Amino acid sequence: MKWSNKIANTIEWSGEISNREQKEKAAEFIAKRVKDGDVIGVGSGSTAFLAVVAIAKRMKDEGLSITAIPTSNEVSLTCSILGIPTTTLLQKKPDWAFDGADEVDQNNSLIKGRGGAMFAEKLVISSSPESYILVDESKLVSYLGEKFPVPVEVDPRAINLVETKLGDFKATEIKLRPAKGKDGPVITEAGNVILDVRFEKIGYDFEKEIKAIPGVIETGLFTGYDLKIVKG
Ligand code: 5RP
Repeated sequence: MKWSNKIANTIEWSGEISNREQKEKAAEFIAKRVKDGDVIGVGSGSTAFLAVVAIAKRMKDEGLSITAIPTSNEVSLTCSILGIPTTTLLQKKPDWAFDGADEVDQNNSLIKGRGGAMFAEKLVISSSPESYILVDESKLVSYLGEKFPVPVEVDPRAINLVETKLGDFKATEIKLRPAKGKDGPVITEAGNVILDVRFEKIGYDFEKEIKAIPGVIETGLFTGYDLKIVKG
């Protein structure tokens, strides 16, 4: 039997989608890349959402069988509403993956994590032989940190320690990300908090070095990954 309730049957992004036309173009590219039987790592955010919608349309029109490995509750729910079966990294290795980004520099390094899903996103991208990053022109920057702070996911017990250690990286601003729609901080899907950090300059080794601070679960920096950037 199927549930007929409204909330978990409504396909809608939770706000206005900026640069929608460009994002839809990149989403179409991804939908065309899908082959019957693929296991696909599915990123989070509005661009990934549009790609999932476009994939679901192809599945319906052409009877394709696809399995998704979602990177957040948000995209997991979208897959469920659209009838896309899901699995996990424990059960399957993705054939390929796609995701969005907040910033991309000329070396294809990224800042991700506006949606707070960078921990699972990095697990999926790192597990995939091929990863596509879908961006509109607003995401292209001349240096990382030009527009966005670097999200750092931290075990709540380590907030003081991590804040102290980030001083060694010449952090110029460290903010505990507040929740919207709930008092207090954002709590990630792994039960952690997020520090949004601005630096004087983001060094090439920051991803590894910040991750080495005890209590840091993950950062939104993706440096030196083999990524295919798709510009919508
Ligand atoms: C979520 C992310 C998103 O991929 C990134 O924020 C891009 O989002 P959008 O496609 O909505 O612009 O990293 O953690």
